[in-house]
Amino acid sequence: MDFYEVVNRRKSVREFQSRPVEEEKLFRVLEAGLKAPSNNHLRQWEFILVKDPEQRKKVAELVSKAKNITNETELEKALDNWSDEVQREMYRKALPVQVKMLVSSPELLVVCYRLRKPLKDCGILYDLNDLASIWMCIENIMLAMAAEGLYGVTSVPRETAVLKKVLGVPEGYEVAAAIPIGYPVDYFVRQKTVSLEEKIHYDKWENT
Ligand SMILES: Cc1cc2nc3c(=O)[nH]c(=O)nc-3n(C[C@H](O)[C@H](O)[C@H](O)COP(=O)(O)O)c2cc1C
Repeated sequence: MDFYEVVNRRKSVREFQSRPVEEEKLFRVLEAGLKAPSNNHLRQWEFILVKDPEQRKKVAELVSKAKNITNETELEKALDNWSDEVQREMYRKALPVQVKMLVSSPELLVVCYRLRKPLKDCGILYDLNDLASIWMCIENIMLAMAAEGLYGVTSVPRETAVLKKVLGVPEGYEVAAAIPIGYPVDYFVRQKTVSLEEKIHYDKWENT
């Protein structure tokens, strides 16, 4: 598939068909992740595929329970935080399925990375290079998924201490995101369109 077609196809998907994901596709996707640029050349990234239903449930709740809103009144209240119509539409669909999307997807991938300095001690941007690199890996994964006809979404846990214990993640490593993976049901959330013309600046941001 043409690269720009892949880029245009990638979208966040939170509802999946029950159709299983072929292992060879999944492995190609993860191989693409491992080809991403890495700050220290070492690609200290690890992938956990959560298959066991009980483990799935535990992981899904630890990653997303704090973000999950199913009660209509609470949902309306939460949506008041955002004024952009397309963004509100996205949250209206996304907030009620934060846990479900991780439990019901055919595959659940948890992406971990070596973090040499605890986040609380990262005082300068350079200290965040480990985090920056894992997101390059994650974007390669998302694009490779789209090339394979697979979709998902990145879900970032707010707190990882207990999650790391449940997943057996060793000291010195962190969880970057959980990614449900599967074939999409037949709808996509409307995309926010952004014009390049408004985003591009020459020589200087300000036009004074
Ligand atoms: C760092 C990051 C964290 C995100 N966290 C969540 C999340 O917790 N739950 C969710 O449903 N989507 C999450 N998303 C997906 C965004 O909502 C989505 O990318 C955005 O709405 C744009 O839509 P698109 O991916 O379809 O282009 C996250 C995306 C990024 C890049």
